[in-house]
Amino acid sequence: MGRLPSRRYASEDLHIRGVLGGGVAQASRDQWSSSFGFFAAAVGSAVGLGNMWRFSYLTAEKGGAAFVALYLVFTLVIGIPVLLAELTLGRGAQKGPIGALAHFGGERWKALGALFVVTGFLILSYYSVIAGWTLRYALESLTVGIPRDAAAHFGSVSEGADAFLFHALFMAITMVIVGGGVSRGIERVSVVAMPLLFVLVCALALYGATLENSAGGYRYYLNADFANALSLDVLVAAAGQAFFSLSLGMGAMMTFASYLTREAHLTRESWVIASADFGVAFLAGLMVFPIIFALGLQGAVGESTLGALFVALPGAFAEMGGTGRFVGLLFFVALVVGALTSALSLFEVVVSAAIDELGWSRPKAVLIMGVLVTLLGAGAAWNIAVLDLMDQVANNLFLLAGGLALAVFTGWVMDEPIAEARAGLGSSRGLGIWRFLLRWVVPPVLIFVLWHSVPATLENLWMFFAG
Ligand code: TRP
Repeated sequence: MGRLPSRRYASEDLHIRGVLGGGVAQASRDQWSSSFGFFAAAVGSAVGLGNMWRFSYLTAEKGGAAFVALYLVFTLVIGIPVLLAELTLGRGAQKGPIGALAHFGGERWKALGALFVVTGFLILSYYSVIAGWTLRYALESLTVGIPRDAAAHFGSVSEGADAFLFHALFMAITMVIVGGGVSRGIERVSVVAMPLLFVLVCALALYGATLENSAGGYRYYLNADFANALSLDVLVAAAGQAFFSLSLGMGAMMTFASYLTREAHLTRESWVIASADFGVAFLAGLMVFPIIFALGLQGAVGESTLGALFVALPGAFAEMGGTGRFVGLLFFVALVVGALTSALSLFEVVVSAAIDELGWSRPKAVLIMGVLVTLLGAGAAWNIAVLDLMDQVANNLFLLAGGLALAVFTGWVMDEPIAEARAGLGSSRGLGIWRFLLRWVVPPVLIFVLWHSVPATLENLWMFFAG
């Protein structure tokens, strides 16, 4: 027996959906219990390691403020339109990517949805390895403290059996929460975790401002050097980051929107989600760069790599003594919380696909898929170069191509996307521009970016396997 939705509008909503033919009425499908619940979960999905770890390391590697500016432009011009497309498809069909694409485009679009689910699998398997590092660092800050020689420490815990163990632990927590369901698992955790994360990031950014040499950090972060920034490499990275940070290009937002009722105002949701996501990334920069510059560790940032944050910051915290240990703890707790709510959305894509398409029960889907993701992550846990490669392939190929496919689908293939987007409490303001962007701006820009990112990524793949 399915649980009947108890929401005030739920039955009316099912009726409307039935009449409009906009969705498949399914009384047993779980739904968010409040609009804040959806908002918290969607922002939780967007805000994560991408905003703190990935954003800071890319900003450092790609030349500071100019990268940030490009990333902001991509968020506005490409990110928000694709986000609104995902929300529209998911809510309209009341299904995850496979079902939603089939609902609006016919059976042959199912393959694209299946590709999205595979992408989710891939991203979660290495994302969870990095999340495992943060979990370990948080526990260490709490108990023994992170050793002074942060580089050696990172070297010994980032790869091998230790890394796998913490990855498995992080996956186990993710499985327990997703196993609880949408409203009673994901939503319950997100409505607490998101406000907590926001407070932590604000506090840490304020703390950064009190440090002696913080001005150097701000200057590095906020001084744009556009001459150096306009390389193709930076462009590709900024586009990839816009997609990754907003959780776009593989149906995560689509899946979350499939648990929404008709009354949600999708245009407003997409603006608020994107603003919150950019806001946290920006704040993360305000906390990371002053801390690093205050201790003269900019060398480590200059030649930034994937692991830089896990070396430079703990190094800085160790120098700061007792305060540093406490600040470090807060910092790594913030990372763990952000990573966890993001992992929930990645895992829900995989789990809901197994429930909807294979007819599995939620516990069965969580168990089997969770174990598979954990095993797939073994490669990334074993070798950081594999992790880096998986991140590049997932972002620079899969997410960008997925975003392109979604823009073409919603802009050109789907009937009446505007009517679907404004259904419920939405308004039509700006929706003409939205469709214009989906048709004429997003595809050419993404094709251009892919034109450069595909060969570069394939070359890296080739070099990895040949060398
Ligand atoms: N957006 C998250 C972050 O910034 C990561 C994430 C969660 C994600 N779900 C996603 C990335 C779906 C791509 C697709 O950390």
